[in-house]
Amino acid sequence: MRLRPLITAAAVRLAESGVASPLPDAENLAAHVLGVDRMRLALHPMIEADEAARFGQLVERRATRIPLQHLTGIAVMGEIDLAVGPGVFVPRPETELLFAWALAYLETLGHAHAPIVVDLCTGTGALALAIAHARPDAVVHAVELDPDAMIWTRRNTEARAADGDTPVTLHTADVTDSALLTELTGRVDLVVANPPYIPEAAVLDPEVADHDPHRALFGGPDGLDVIRAMTPNIARLLRPGGATAVEHDDTNGAGVAAIVTAAGLAEVTEHPDLAGRPRFVTAHSPSER
Ligand SMILES: C[S@@+](CC[C@H](N)C(=O)[O-])C[C@H]1O[C@@H](n2cnc3c(N)ncnc32)[C@H](O)[C@@H]1O
Repeated sequence: MRLRPLITAAAVRLAESGVASPLPDAENLAAHVLGVDRMRLALHPMIEADEAARFGQLVERRATRIPLQHLTGIAVMGEIDLAVGPGVFVPRPETELLFAWALAYLETLGHAHAPIVVDLCTGTGALALAIAHARPDAVVHAVELDPDAMIWTRRNTEARAADGDTPVTLHTADVTDSALLTELTGRVDLVVANPPYIPEAAVLDPEVADHDPHRALFGGPDGLDVIRAMTPNIARLLRPGGATAVEHDDTNGAGVAAIVTAAGLAEVTEHPDLAGRPRFVTAHSPSER
């Protein structure tokens, strides 16, 4: 049978269910069933009956607002795929901006020495593993507290290492603990973090509220609890001249800039996302301390 009418009908069904991106989601589910890239769907105009049945089941599940990535089992960061599912935060496209900034920063250091990178609140390992893939010379550490998330972090870390990437060192630890990674104090070139940062009272889509872990989402009443508590660790870990990038809620650009400034970091810069909303803050450790 022909695929395109099924996709069109699926998109209508998803739109009626309140899904924000019905046509791309329908296409992604069809591509998943056919085992092809979404951009190559046009090369597959026909679908077998059993595939159409599987597609229909996935569309119905997506209509209940299960995240697309939980149905396909995959999310993307940079050039790598990450396994995702219940128990771990699904990496978001907006974090690609912080990732791109991080790679550009590492590039400014040149390739003469192996940069040390720390990813705080790593979840699936998205930022740590994407950086390790893009910069095989980097020594990358990733920190996560939640044992359920850590199951996915380990799975992804082992898969990337099996694929030939430089292994990332995982740490089960609280990023707000003042004893965090003391062996790296003053030695780290780059600290990246996409921590829990949503203000407690925020109203979220069902995909987020019902499927991302609570601990991955909320950062206290103003969304800044974890950022406030982990920033002294970032300042301590960085070597003189080292840099950090911290993602935050779009209401908190100035708040995060003030927190990193108060921690003694310099060259504090607020970065918007593609929609112009404040999305992450970067800062550098003063060269002379
Ligand atoms: C918003 S998710 C981000 C995951 C990943 N960095 C990404 O971009 O996809 C935040 C992660 O921080 C973890 N987390 C929350 N509080 C933490 C803490 N105090 N110490 C370490 N990890 C924490 C959560 O379990 C979750 O995996």
